[in-house]
Amino acid sequence: MKALILSGGKGTRLRPVTYSTAKQLVPVANRPILYYVIDNVVEAGIRDVGIVISPETGDEVKRAVEMYKTREVRFTFILQEAPLGIAHAAGISRDFIGEDPFVLYLGDNLIGSGIKKFKEKFEKDRPDALILVKEVDEPRHFGVVTFDEEGNVTRLVEKPKFPPSSFALVGVYFFSPVIFEEIDRLKPSWRGELEITEAIQGLVDSGKRVIAEYLDTWWLDTGKKDDILEANRVVLDEWIKRDIQGKIDERSIISGRVKVEKGALIENSEVRGPAVVGSGAVVKNSFVGPYTSIGNFSHIENSELQFSVVLDGAEIRDTRGLDSSIIGKRSRISGKNDRRIRLFVGDDSVVEF
Ligand code: DAU
Repeated sequence: MKALILSGGKGTRLRPVTYSTAKQLVPVANRPILYYVIDNVVEAGIRDVGIVISPETGDEVKRAVEMYKTREVRFTFILQEAPLGIAHAAGISRDFIGEDPFVLYLGDNLIGSGIKKFKEKFEKDRPDALILVKEVDEPRHFGVVTFDEEGNVTRLVEKPKFPPSSFALVGVYFFSPVIFEEIDRLKPSWRGELEITEAIQGLVDSGKRVIAEYLDTWWLDTGKKDDILEANRVVLDEWIKRDIQGKIDERSIISGRVKVEKGALIENSEVRGPAVVGSGAVVKNSFVGPYTSIGNFSHIENSELQFSVVLDGAEIRDTRGLDSSIIGKRSRISGKNDRRIRLFVGDDSVVEF
């Protein structure tokens, strides 16, 4: 089996951070989202991985994938000239897939489990498609699936105004190459894209076997700012263990599950877990509250923050009350602020109070 990971698209809903970074590379607990996706693919035993990239962010994605060190996996990059849809991205990858079954994995989807058991089910039952579904509160933001009384998939609709069910399509799909016949028949949807939901509907309509598996762990489509904060919270909560590699002076308190990476320095500060402090970061005379990720080579001084994501090389000085904020790479936040404040700041920005 092969894997096709989609890491193109525009990421407009995550601006300003995605003006300068691919959305799949936005870090969650200091690791790009894409790395968790690759972890799951590799853990399922897949060794041949295609990655669809865009002209705008392709080089950055390639560099990140090259840094994801693993010898056993062969990565092939496939350039999609424009974000013309998930089915379009799959369609242009046909030469890479050949006659193999494959898992199509959206590079911005994070799930709380691996995909191995779904792969095994797909290989055992040999349907034409295996989709993952999850009940959600706001199905209109997703592809939505309906079932008949026996649990067979009957209809799939992309982001319906009036959702016919509360079952959303998770961005992980297993296909036999038969899906390409349906992709060839697609016309652009109302949003100008070739929709994978319509291709799967084509399989259902032509009597092919489409089975659905219920995802019983958490799932996050990291499309918006609050999704990133939520992903950061969940990943820190579930996967971070106490691991102190950096230097902590005797006036500091590190409580709970905190990961302090090599080369980080914590002076006269409190860091309360779950939290992660990246390599080369400095935290001085500060309070770093729970559910916070401090990126590599960031500098936090005389400040207080919690529930936040600080990207690499950012500086926060003399600022208290930062809460549920995302601070872009190399941005500088400074000045006295004693109120609770939420910021969503892109890369290379300056905010002075
Ligand atoms: O997250 C699950 C949802 O993902 C499903 O419920 C929907 O049915 C499915 O259409 C998709 O909806 P989104 O609107 O969230 O998809 P988005 O445009 O964000 O693209 C998902 C990923 O695929 C993202 O990492 C970017 C990449 N992509 C997207 C398009 C449209 C590409 O690489 N090329 C593309 O042309």
